[in-house]
Amino acid sequence: MRLIIKENYGSACLWVSEYITGRINAFRASAQRPFVLGLPTGSSPLGIYRELISLNKMGKLSFEHIITFNMDEYVGLDAAHPQSYKAFMRENLFKHIDIPEAQTNILNGMAADLAGECDNYEKKIIEAGGIELFLGGMGEDGHIAFNEPGSSLTSRTRIKTLTKETREVNSRFFEGDPAKVPATALTVGVGTIMEAREVVIIACGRRKARALAAAVEGCVTHLWTLSCLQMHPKAIIVCDEDATDELKVGTVRYFKDIERE
Ligand code: GLP
Repeated sequence: MRLIIKENYGSACLWVSEYITGRINAFRASAQRPFVLGLPTGSSPLGIYRELISLNKMGKLSFEHIITFNMDEYVGLDAAHPQSYKAFMRENLFKHIDIPEAQTNILNGMAADLAGECDNYEKKIIEAGGIELFLGGMGEDGHIAFNEPGSSLTSRTRIKTLTKETREVNSRFFEGDPAKVPATALTVGVGTIMEAREVVIIACGRRKARALAAAVEGCVTHLWTLSCLQMHPKAIIVCDEDATDELKVGTVRYFKDIERE
């Protein structure tokens, strides 16, 4: 696992967007061989999306041959709901870039058969050739996508009950009322993420410090699902200085030393 420590959120987003752009451009995607990109929601990726939009507008990055798969979606919010992840992706990325809508995939939290929707999503990922790079964030309890503590580290796309903590944290998008946050969500599994050929996580701010320390310095455990990345052959966590608050000084020094530019 690589840990890239940048000074602040802005420089972390810049690093991630340049890295993704480099990976996509080097891949030389075509209609026959598209680049399959996994995407997150939340506040963490917003700065990255702003950078990707501007690189797209400058002609430095094209989404024409990119297929996207989002990590998760709330159950019971339709695409018109402003807090659905479908609406989030449309407003914060897709409507600003040259990606054909048919190439964007998001779990349907309104599906009549939710288990069938999840199985289908796994099939669609395989049909697309598997995920080349999964970009993600991390919850304050160390969750990746909506894989809450206790999720199986071999889990696949499925329905998950959200913890009280996650509903409280996410209530900031629901008028501050945890009761308005859906109680369940559809999410790709830890196993689904682990099958991506590369995983890049952004984790910034002091509120992520405890989970970052657990994921980087702790054991691999289902209680901090991001710790699964210790078993991934190609994983990068990009954080800011604030998020390193709970890491050992020696750990911070070590990663800064091996990642010095
Ligand atoms: C939600 C999402 C996660 C995301 C997390 C962190 O729970 N399901 O994919 O990583 O929030 O959100 P934020 O980036 O706003 O801290």
